[in-house]
Amino acid sequence: MGIGPVIRRMFGPYEHRVSEAYRSLYIDIDALVQQIRQWKPTATRIPEVGCGEGAMTERLSAAYPDADITAIDITPRIGRLYAGSRDRVRFTQCGVEEIAATEPGLYDFVLLCDVLHHVPVSFRPGLLDAIRATLAADAVFVFKDWERNHTPIHWLCHASDRWLTGDRINYMTRNEMRGHLAHSFGLAALVAEARSPPWWNNIAILVRP
Ligand SMILES: C[S@@+](CC[C@H](N)C(=O)[O-])C[C@H]1O[C@@H](n2cnc3c(N)ncnc32)[C@H](O)[C@@H]1O
Repeated sequence: MGIGPVIRRMFGPYEHRVSEAYRSLYIDIDALVQQIRQWKPTATRIPEVGCGEGAMTERLSAAYPDADITAIDITPRIGRLYAGSRDRVRFTQCGVEEIAATEPGLYDFVLLCDVLHHVPVSFRPGLLDAIRATLAADAVFVFKDWERNHTPIHWLCHASDRWLTGDRINYMTRNEMRGHLAHSFGLAALVAEARSPPWWNNIAILVRP
């Protein structure tokens, strides 16, 4: 484990605010959710894969007031900072492979946000194949990650992510992201792409299998 959780806990009641401020250096997650809503205006059953401490889950629950959200992650810190309603949101510590095995084809919108760079390269096809198995017939999958490039903001992002999480992170180029997605869903399924502020590195890809 990295030192991020330890440092953040030192902020006590201000941890949620500090965590949001740190994240906003790299991504405007409200703008990302707006983009996602343009692509998928309504949803009823959403798994958020790799939800972490719940920052995106909070936005998803507000943006999709009619949806049941299953927020999953392998970390024991799952959902710790989630401050939204829990009526329609459940946090489960598991991998998406378990959802794929127990609830195949049940979900109409799956989100994977800033997770794949934490997953070892050899495990990525299995994770993406499991996501595909959770999708209902007319479902969409939104993939978001941070593009590797030669800019100071990327070096800063890489250093802080590596140092804070302690994970052996491995960022991808745009082509590598598209390659992973095409391997599991087919190239024709990658139907739209958008960049999220404040950095060009934030890529979201709409996958419609
Ligand atoms: C940078 S956080 C992103 C959290 C959240 N998606 C968000 O955008 O706020 C990356 C998360 O991916 C999770 N993760 C890494 N490998 C995973 C896997 N195989 N299955 C599910 N979650 C995973 C980590 O535990 C971590 O919480």
